[in-house]
Amino acid sequence: METLRFITCGSVDDGKSTLIGRLLYESKAIFDDQLAALIKDSAQYGTQGTQMDLALLVDGLQAEREQGITIDVAYRFFTTDERRFVVADTPGHEQYTRNMATGASTASLAVILIDARKGVLVQTRRHSRIVAMMGIRHVVLAVNKMDLVGFDAATFYAIVADYRAFAADLGFASLQVIPLSGLTGDNVLEPSPNMPWYTGPMLMQYLNTVDTRSTQAQGAFRMPVQWVNRPNLDFRGFCGRIAAGPMHPGDAVRVLPSGVQTHVKAVWLGFEAVAEAQAGDSVTITLADEVDASRSDVLVAASAPPEVADQFEARLLWMSAHALAPGRQYLMKHACKEVSATVSNLKHRVDVNTGAHLAATKLDLNEIGLVHLSTNAPLVYEPYAVSQVLGSFILIDKLTFETVGAGMIEFALRRANNIHWQALEINKAARAAQKHQTPRCIWFTGLSGSGKSAIANLLEKRLSSEGRHTYLLDGDNVRHGLNRDLGFTEADRVENIRRVAEVARLMVDAGLIVLVSFISPFAAERAMARSLFAPGEFVEVFVDTPFDDCARRDVKGLYAKALRGELKNFTGLDSPYEAPANPDVRLLAGQKSIEMCLEDLLNALG
Ligand code: ADX
Repeated sequence: METLRFITCGSVDDGKSTLIGRLLYESKAIFDDQLAALIKDSAQYGTQGTQMDLALLVDGLQAEREQGITIDVAYRFFTTDERRFVVADTPGHEQYTRNMATGASTASLAVILIDARKGVLVQTRRHSRIVAMMGIRHVVLAVNKMDLVGFDAATFYAIVADYRAFAADLGFASLQVIPLSGLTGDNVLEPSPNMPWYTGPMLMQYLNTVDTRSTQAQGAFRMPVQWVNRPNLDFRGFCGRIAAGPMHPGDAVRVLPSGVQTHVKAVWLGFEAVAEAQAGDSVTITLADEVDASRSDVLVAASAPPEVADQFEARLLWMSAHALAPGRQYLMKHACKEVSATVSNLKHRVDVNTGAHLAATKLDLNEIGLVHLSTNAPLVYEPYAVSQVLGSFILIDKLTFETVGAGMIEFALRRANNIHWQALEINKAARAAQKHQTPRCIWFTGLSGSGKSAIANLLEKRLSSEGRHTYLLDGDNVRHGLNRDLGFTEADRVENIRRVAEVARLMVDAGLIVLVSFISPFAAERAMARSLFAPGEFVEVFVDTPFDDCARRDVKGLYAKALRGELKNFTGLDSPYEAPANPDVRLLAGQKSIEMCLEDLLNALG
């Protein structure tokens, strides 16, 4: 029997629970004891007089789950004579858009609910856009609560015209519109005697027959390797779930990204060796040759391999209250692989109402944008339209491990591909030897006015007097030139640090001892800066002066201004400072003079 996975989306109060309750009830998916409880609860708490309140059934489960550990999406199951159904039911509140995206990722059809009294809302448009973005191609527009508008045809047709105009460019393969009432049951299972003007299918009838099969899984063979099973030296099995295509013993396969080619020796489904496996099967594959393949590699049909790239254009749904910062490194999960990824360019944000492309420097919660993404290792990918498995990814905050974004790859960018690193004959070692020194980056972080620049300045004088070749990059100075275009928003500070870290790296490559004195308030960017250098080359110096001491000294008069509210986004006040947990050196500049701090620093540097 075929299974249809669908998602219901709607706004708060548009009757979604009642409609799902009715589908469950009518398909007898409610157990007898639940039914008895429902009749009792309806009398006690229901909003429907002595009638059964079907919404209690669904909401009851919801309330229950909200008390415990939150499950993002509730899946409900029911069966008719024709099909099995899995409904992803997600809360309609605005802040739950991420759950909606999660539910949509496994569904092939969406039932979008509209309250006939309210028509198409912002939330309707947002949900429709996410549904389209997640690759759902079949939509039912359920215009609900028709009983509350007197079953009026004109109201229904006006809403339909409104929605069709909006959805025209969303690329749905089918859009079925149905006027109904979850409460009274009109047009849910039985044709409504109240709406003789409607001649289309009933909701249940439509769900029973609609064809949503996709062609994706029929493509050439692809399987991301989840795990390499090596119980003994004689057996090496590659385990995973087949994302596309059939696969047989004897088939020629390639291991990507390495590109090594071999043949399938055997395919195991559980403990049984089979002659064929299909998309969706979880299998163990043994290969004819001892090739080097490991977790996160992808096994593919040798004759039709997908591409490998590290720069992409992708659609991104932002799911965190903490805005996307272009330039920041996030953890990216793609198929079975984890890499570091940076949004190198936010091309635009999408207005959910109109679809217009708006200029943006960040993406806030629930916003959708088109981005350029670069990864620190190549990915075996396909566009999302071709493969949901190899075309989708999530972004994770590196410090909090919160899932912050969900993305879909459109295509790879080839621009950067032909730029190779030039091997120069005079290299870092040669330049350093000429200067008789070990190049280093000494990175000072701390609040404004904490004493970073004063200590860095003293250190530079000392090094210089010893004949060392140095350069001091100071936040205030660099912001007059290279970073003149940047302010103090989170996104600008991320870019500020990215640029100065790259400059510091070039200067270290030139053989210099580079001192960097920037507030650099974010742990993520300091970690990024460190990653640009060889081990031991980067020294993080935390100038640990408490906020109150900095404010009392107030060398530049900025604290007074900020405390009067005349300076926005001031570090330590209305913009965060993430103190280093494990700096290489910590200087207590609140308690000690800068000369004492210098001695402490020289001691630590050795
Ligand atoms: S960072 O946060 O992006 O690393 P950076 O070190 O370049 O900052 O610049 C900080 C300097 O800019 C401060 O020392 C101060 O003189 C000045 N400044 C002006 N406005 C602000 C602000 N809102 N927050 C912090 N510093 C500011």
